[in-house]
Amino acid sequence: MNQPIIAPSMLAADFANLQRDVEMINHSEADWFHIDIMDGEFVPNISFGFPVLEAIRRYAQKPLDVHLMIVQPDRYLEQFAEAGADTITVHYEACTHLHRTLTRIRELGCRAGVALNLQTPVTALEDILEAVDQVLIMTINPGFGGQKLVPSSIQKVRKMRRLMAEHQSTALIEVDGGVDINTIAELAEAGADVFVAGTSVFKADDPALAIRQLKEQPFIKRSSTMA
Ligand code: DX5
Ligand code: ZN
Repeated sequence: MNQPIIAPSMLAADFANLQRDVEMINHSEADWFHIDIMDGEFVPNISFGFPVLEAIRRYAQKPLDVHLMIVQPDRYLEQFAEAGADTITVHYEACTHLHRTLTRIRELGCRAGVALNLQTPVTALEDILEAVDQVLIMTINPGFGGQKLVPSSIQKVRKMRRLMAEHQSTALIEVDGGVDINTIAELAEAGADVFVAGTSVFKADDPALAIRQLKEQPFIKRSSTMA
């Protein structure tokens, strides 16, 4: 098992103390910042846009993993790249010409990610895996933090891992929604590499400690089941 990549979701940060929360992540064992962009159309919620993203960028010392929950994301790819995104993830369900969109993201110098809603089968990506650097398996219905992980999505991670192995894909598998100390080990065992965590980090008494525990938990679980 590789070291899990932990990506705290800034959606759960305290926006009145954004710089403080960004610095907390900088000094923690977290690997990336996960940034959720919602347009009120693709999902029934609006999060934040470029000014907030740029404010985060100003202080962030780790890669920005931008998750676009918006319709017609092609309109804004360049602007997100300019705003400092390292990875741009679009939704499969929001893209008519997904291969073109992913290719454009790479041309802009970013890693290209694609997210799958709960109902979208992993096989939908089978023919374009070479254009993908990261697959985000939604483990909840997107739009809100603080939801419980939908159990069937764990099996979906396994299926994605198998499909990638068949196609020699080196893309990372990311999981997003309801990731906490109780769910992370099983997700890691199923084959996830990147773990987005909002509520379980920012609502913890000690967020930096919560991040460290998330990072260690897959190994703790493993050694206790092997003993
Ligand atoms: C929801 C977002 C998630 C969200 C996860 O649509 O994509 O990134 O912030 O929040 P938690 O970890 O609270 O489930
Ligand atoms: Zn997200």
